[in-house]
Amino acid sequence: MNRSADSDAAATAEPLLALRAVSHAYARTPALREVSLTVRPGEVVAVTGPSGCGKSTLLHVAAGLLKPHAGDVHLLGRDLAGLDEPARAVLRRREVGIVLQYGQLVPDMALEDNVALPLLLEGGDLGASRTAARDALARVGLEQAGTAVPEELSGGQAQRAAIARALITSPRLLLADEPVASLDAVGAQDALDLLLSVARRDGGAVVLVTHDNTAAALADREVRLRDGSVERESVLR
Ligand SMILES: Nc1ncnc2c1ncn2[C@@H]1O[C@H](COP(=O)(O)OP(=O)(O)OP(=O)(O)O)[C@@H](O)[C@H]1O
Ligand SMILES: [Mg+2]
Repeated sequence: MNRSADSDAAATAEPLLALRAVSHAYARTPALREVSLTVRPGEVVAVTGPSGCGKSTLLHVAAGLLKPHAGDVHLLGRDLAGLDEPARAVLRRREVGIVLQYGQLVPDMALEDNVALPLLLEGGDLGASRTAARDALARVGLEQAGTAVPEELSGGQAQRAAIARALITSPRLLLADEPVASLDAVGAQDALDLLLSVARRDGGAVVLVTHDNTAAALADREVRLRDGSVERESVLR
């Protein structure tokens, strides 16, 4: 399929993520102001903008980790306002891969179990889940680190482990917040290849929060935030 046929298909497909007029504030700090964003199958959407503009808040709202004060969020076709936290957790675990900006590995848990966790929580067999986790760790260059605990890792190693865990369930939608910020240039390129592969799979899509222009340039679309609002939206390919 050529590019324009691809984008025609994306334009008609059911969105994997739809935010409509979402606003949020922390105490008196407004973080999002009437932000709308639609992500369809096959798309990689970069969310960019200066520090503090609301990128992480947007990602947490999209993932149902934070309930916005106004507006609505549909994730994988489900209205998040209509789901309680256990239902949102199941939806995330089964269909969404999430790489957060800070500390999401469970302390004192071996890396291989940290990465296996999404499978184990779904009732996966311990041995098979650990084998899958070791494979996932090998894909991010951490084949030797399965028995390490998070505090023994460098920032970049922890980030790669978080990527392995986000991808272990083969999610349809990947939400990643500065996923390569702690990696060197080669590591970042490899990790981005892996992350963006989610959108190359049938029906998948990626939201990539990044301040890195090289990473943003890999997206199909860029949504730039400023002071909690969408400042500009550009089609890149
Ligand atoms: N838990 C919180 N409590 C209070 N204010 C917060 C909290 N989290 C974020 N903020 C504020 O909300 C605004 C948006 O923050 P957010 O973390 O979404 O920005 P960001 O674009 O991800 O920044 P960065 O690029 O530095 O990661 C900022 O003004 C920030 O200070
Ligand atoms: Mg952030």
